[in-house]
Amino acid sequence: MAPDDGSLLALDDLVPPAELAEIEVEATAVIEATTTLAALDEAAREALGKRSRFSLVYQQLGRMAPEDRKVAGRRLHELRRRIEDRIAARKEVLEREERSARLMADRLDLTEVLPGELAGHLHLVTQVREQLEDVFVGMGYEIAEGPEIETDWYNFQALNIPLDHPARSSVDTFFVDLGDDAGETYLLRTHTSPVQVHLLERGRLPIYAVVPGRVYRRDTPDATHLPAFHQLEGLVIDRGVTFGDLAGTIDTFVHAIFGDQASTRLRPAYFPFTEPSAEFEITCQICGGEGCRTCSMTGWIELGGCGMVHPAVLEATGVDAEEWTGFAFGFGIDRLAIMRHEIPDLRWMVENDVRFLRQFA
Ligand code: PHE
Repeated sequence: MAPDDGSLLALDDLVPPAELAEIEVEATAVIEATTTLAALDEAAREALGKRSRFSLVYQQLGRMAPEDRKVAGRRLHELRRRIEDRIAARKEVLEREERSARLMADRLDLTEVLPGELAGHLHLVTQVREQLEDVFVGMGYEIAEGPEIETDWYNFQALNIPLDHPARSSVDTFFVDLGDDAGETYLLRTHTSPVQVHLLERGRLPIYAVVPGRVYRRDTPDATHLPAFHQLEGLVIDRGVTFGDLAGTIDTFVHAIFGDQASTRLRPAYFPFTEPSAEFEITCQICGGEGCRTCSMTGWIELGGCGMVHPAVLEATGVDAEEWTGFAFGFGIDRLAIMRHEIPDLRWMVENDVRFLRQFA
């Protein structure tokens, strides 16, 4: 540093390039060594603040001849800018690090079980669906799936549901508006039966399949209805399949789910895609068959529909109805679950009140 004797200083005495380089190296080292934003503030003060080596040099400017001062001023200004750039770059790095550290600390681990707390678990509907799948896999069935958006053909026509059938009325069905170019009518499937058509079209016979899945109907939610619920469809196509096989199959899975004390019975019904058709009922789980308000004093509760696959369905899908026969059945998984657990209101299944849900942990 030049002597402080009041005399005017020459340019290179005051700002020797070597000293400026030294200031820069020193400041860079201090800045790069910081690990927190607070430490970086401190480093910035040290590098450029009032008592910094940089400021000491800067204060000498006033003692220089005007032309020299201009040159020196520019050098110092550039040095300051380079140091400020380094500080800004370091700040960005540290901010990013602190942000991710904060995110890690705030992270909500939904799988973490704290002492005295309850771990998450599968929803009752999923549990029952998996039990049903296990029962049918045990009987040699495959688990199949189908789309939730279907065309009119799959949901209705191929299932022998004529144009004027009440199940087609817009009161029951959610239609999907895909614009005028869509060509066909698309809708949210109102049952899992369209997957029968997909399985038959596949052309691989025989078929032993169950199809769990979500279905949609334009219903107002109440104790026994939801606009979106789950069904399990069954389809068996083979040579020489009889109505007795259907009855035995239903009996078998109902026993597996409800226990041996539960009985089943079939009552004549009508579905366009089965002939003959039946509704299957199980012993009322509330009264054990004695008769109560829930079962309207009959001792039986309806669970689903079934029947022998209608030849028209086989023909629509290119399966020889002379050679192959089979049966189909379908029922609501949610409804089966509330029956088994004596839950009075179907809406509880979708309200997601943990006080309800955790009873099925
Ligand atoms: N798909 C019918 C329903 O949703 C149930 C059913 C399935 C009936 C298979 C017969 C055969 O009501």
